[in-house]
Amino acid sequence: MIVRLERIWKYFGSFPALKDINLDIREGEILSIIGSSGAGKTTLLRIISMLDMPDKGVYYLKGKENTYSIEQRRSVTMVFQKPVIFNTSVYKNIEFGLKVRGVENGEARKRVKEALSMVGLEDYAKRRAKTLSGGEQQRVAIARAVAVKPELIVLDEPTANLDPQNIKVIEDIIKKMAEQGITVVFSTHNMFQAKRIAERVVHLHEGKIVEVGNVKKIFENPSSEVTKKFLSGELFY
Ligand SMILES: Nc1ncnc2c1ncn2[C@@H]1O[C@H](COP(=O)(O)OP(=O)(O)O)[C@@H](O)[C@H]1O
Ligand SMILES: [Mg+2]
Repeated sequence: MIVRLERIWKYFGSFPALKDINLDIREGEILSIIGSSGAGKTTLLRIISMLDMPDKGVYYLKGKENTYSIEQRRSVTMVFQKPVIFNTSVYKNIEFGLKVRGVENGEARKRVKEALSMVGLEDYAKRRAKTLSGGEQQRVAIARAVAVKPELIVLDEPTANLDPQNIKVIEDIIKKMAEQGITVVFSTHNMFQAKRIAERVVHLHEGKIVEVGNVKKIFENPSSEVTKKFLSGELFY
């Protein structure tokens, strides 16, 4: 178990965006959070990534409770739905996280190179990142996350607004991360994407987990009525 959430609640004012979330994230798995727009996916991912703290409940990272130390925070990185790109070279964009962590230059160069190769942007190091396409910028953001060698990478709708070809590229990168032993959690409103690459699926609906289990089980035999509706396309997003 890498992360455990116990009875987590998150409020925006008096509005509960997450209601009594109980979830285990297993080491090395690819877990997908599916749900319509507004279901609470981003809110949940920010809590998993320790960017936000829950209002109620307990967060465990590898069995340790609620410490939120710098070291703990650094073992999880989040890639945002809209990639954060600095107005400089692709190389510097990826090196940034390593500088923050004080990784020395030689090691940093090696890691940037490895990360670029992982996302298939070997020849892009010198390009100005802001001039890249949406899909390429998303890959730069993923490379930045990979370069710091986290134990868990969290991606928020990594393929929203991308064309099918770029979607495939990102999905292959996610699979590659998992092959390297990184635990991956990603959100999507596309159930087919979850089916293609995830091992387990969580269905979030109106801030609650309505279904969790192995991909096959959920797609073939969902237990909740809401999930049945979501899978049949009756629930709009
Ligand atoms: N910063 C915020 N302030 C107020 N309400 C918010 C904020 N962030 C999210 N919400 C609300 O919480 C709910 C869940 O949002 P979000 O986690 O972004 O859902 P999703 O990512 O599944 O689309 C929505 O109703 C949204 O309007
Ligand atoms: Mg969202």
